[in-house]
Amino acid sequence: MPQNERHTYLITGGAGFIGSHMVDELLARGHHVRVIDNFSTGKRENLAHVRERITLYERSITERAALDAAMAGVDYVLHLAALASVPRSVADPLSSNEHNVTGTLNVLLAARDAGVRRVVYAGSSSAYGNVDAPRKSEDLCPQPLSPYAVAKLTGEQYCRVFTHVYGLETVVVRYFNVFGPRQDPSSPYSAVIPKFIAAMLRGQSPTVEGDGLQSRDFTYVANVVQGTLLACHAPNVAGEVFNIALGGQITLLEMIASLNELLGTQIAPTFVAPRPGDVRHSRADIRKARERLSYTPQVDFREGLARTLAWYREAMTE
Ligand code: UD1
Repeated sequence: MPQNERHTYLITGGAGFIGSHMVDELLARGHHVRVIDNFSTGKRENLAHVRERITLYERSITERAALDAAMAGVDYVLHLAALASVPRSVADPLSSNEHNVTGTLNVLLAARDAGVRRVVYAGSSSAYGNVDAPRKSEDLCPQPLSPYAVAKLTGEQYCRVFTHVYGLETVVVRYFNVFGPRQDPSSPYSAVIPKFIAAMLRGQSPTVEGDGLQSRDFTYVANVVQGTLLACHAPNVAGEVFNIALGGQITLLEMIASLNELLGTQIAPTFVAPRPGDVRHSRADIRKARERLSYTPQVDFREGLARTLAWYREAMTE
């Protein structure tokens, strides 16, 4: 694709944490941006600064007619809308299935019928579960451990099948524990980094579920935006799955130590029981994305954490 061509993108879940960063990047590149979001977990304030520059459909992806309207004339779909969180899916598997599976099926059907060029689907590292490998590569057999993981993996399978059966180009990007500005710290289902930052900025002890030695491939959001857009335009990758991550391994205790260092504090964690359906270690092999998408993460964990902390500091003092 020539760099200066303008396209129309639909971002499902564009008011969410990752989606809103995707919106910013596409606008910066001069594209037309549409967002469909029902604001169940997305936030108006994430789009407030670009509200005049995008077309917003305040509807759910569980409504097929809303998707048809949003998708007319769209070139590319970035399908990020989802009901995230492993514990939320354990508490309410039916809602997880409705939004993450039926919602995805609706997106694919609408994209097929609208003649969209490519759909990029935000998959999840949770698909791997506790599969026994130091780095999770795309060729490993998935072992989902939670309803959330099952639902996100089912969405992937629908993508692959739509490519094979209907010729709709789809690419799956499996995200690994993304973090950064705008991630909601206040829900019981919030991710660990914003929760810990919010607690520690108030001088409170972060609550560690388990021994804190579980590890994640914490990935700064700018890397994920970059990887997703590469997957949107790379040639000959329809029907494929790519890990998008940093490729690193950080335990929760190491993350807390980094936060203490950046904050100049010595706050000790509080330990509670481990979470049902939790994965012990999750680290990506990103060779396939490097080779086929020319993906290279630009922001390392420490730099990403510093940028994120700076953002919350400002947001929490407003
Ligand atoms: C999982 C997926 C991730 C996906 C996310 C969506 C894996 C490996 N990762 O994240 O790709 O984007 O779901 O929701 O499956 N924890 C605490 N204290 C807290 C909160 C969490 O100790 O207050 C612990 C959890 O028990 C877990 C770790 O921190 O061990 C990470 O939890 P969380 O941030 O919720 O993400 P995952 O479940 O790993």
